Amino acid sequence: MNRHRPDRVTDYDRDHPIVVEGLRNSFDGQVIHDDLSLTVRRGEILGVVGGSGTGKSVLMRSIIGLQVPDAGKITVLGDDITAARDDDDIDIRSRWGVLFQGGALFSTLTVAENVEVPLQEFYPGLSDDLRHEIARFKVRLSGLPAEAAAKYPSELSGGMKKRAGLARALALDPELLFLDEPTAGLDPIGAAAFDSLIGALQDTLGLTVFLITHDLDTLYAICDRVAVLADKRVIAVGTIPELLALDHPWIQEYFNGPRGRAARSVGENVSAARDDQPKAKGMDKRPEAGE
Ligand SMILES: Nc1ncnc2c1ncn2[C@@H]1O[C@H](COP(=O)(O)OP(=O)(O)OP(=O)(O)O)[C@@H](O)[C@H]1O
Ligand SMILES: [Mg+2]
Repeated sequence: MNRHRPDRVTDYDRDHPIVVEGLRNSFDGQVIHDDLSLTVRRGEILGVVGGSGTGKSVLMRSIIGLQVPDAGKITVLGDDITAARDDDDIDIRSRWGVLFQGGALFSTLTVAENVEVPLQEFYPGLSDDLRHEIARFKVRLSGLPAEAAAKYPSELSGGMKKRAGLARALALDPELLFLDEPTAGLDPIGAAAFDSLIGALQDTLGLTVFLITHDLDTLYAICDRVAVLADKRVIAVGTIPELLALDHPWIQEYFNGPRGRAARSVGENVSAARDDQPKAKGMDKRPEAGE
């Protein structure tokens, strides 16, 4: 299964699996990103926030090579995504998993068949039995009951669809997981369960997670750091306490508005209630220079 892990990426900076430098994107003259830079650390859950239409999804699409930028350089796991691509790009795509905003399951395929799509694409030599077994395992790993494997997307609830999308994103044992609004449209209990699942997967599988969200509870519960997209750039990256210390109006409004305060008090209560356990993420980090 390791034949897609090429030697040529062994000398990259392993501590920073995603590095975006000087990114510029525009559509019909409308500039979305201008000189945007962002570095993601290995093993972290990085939350990405910003107003609607600020270009969060376009940033994610740029990082996974679906959007060709006007300028800038993006390096993922040592591979230059923005360089001219050739057949090698199959290597890098097998090392990340993506849950798109809206899910994007194939409606004519069952959940298990959806999970098998990337397996078939990247490992065509797998026997049918083994492929089915891996798909069933990923379905269970994503917190779905075994029966869900045979269901079609139209037969699933919103939360189950998200989990099915996650199962497909995990099909190839990725090192990087990209999630675009994974808890949007879920009820609060479903959203919290999804957050716990992502946190557990990060812990057990050592994933690095790029997580676009509007959900303040998610930011407090599972994100190690948060990147703020505004003014066409990433204006700040840090833990939530670090961001709270900045006086940018959008950041203050977002984290110190009524919803932000409510989410923070829940985050702090979680920390206080678990004195002997790891604290809610982002509540106990010290500022670090240079990023
Ligand atoms: N393929 C495209 N063609 C033209 N314009 C696009 C395209 N994709 C995105 N845009 C524009 O780029 C801007 C950023 O879009 P994007 O989807 O990244 O926003 P977002 O931050 O993800 O917003 P939301 O929080 O609503 O999901 C928007 O103005 C959008 O209309
Ligand atoms: Mg979006």
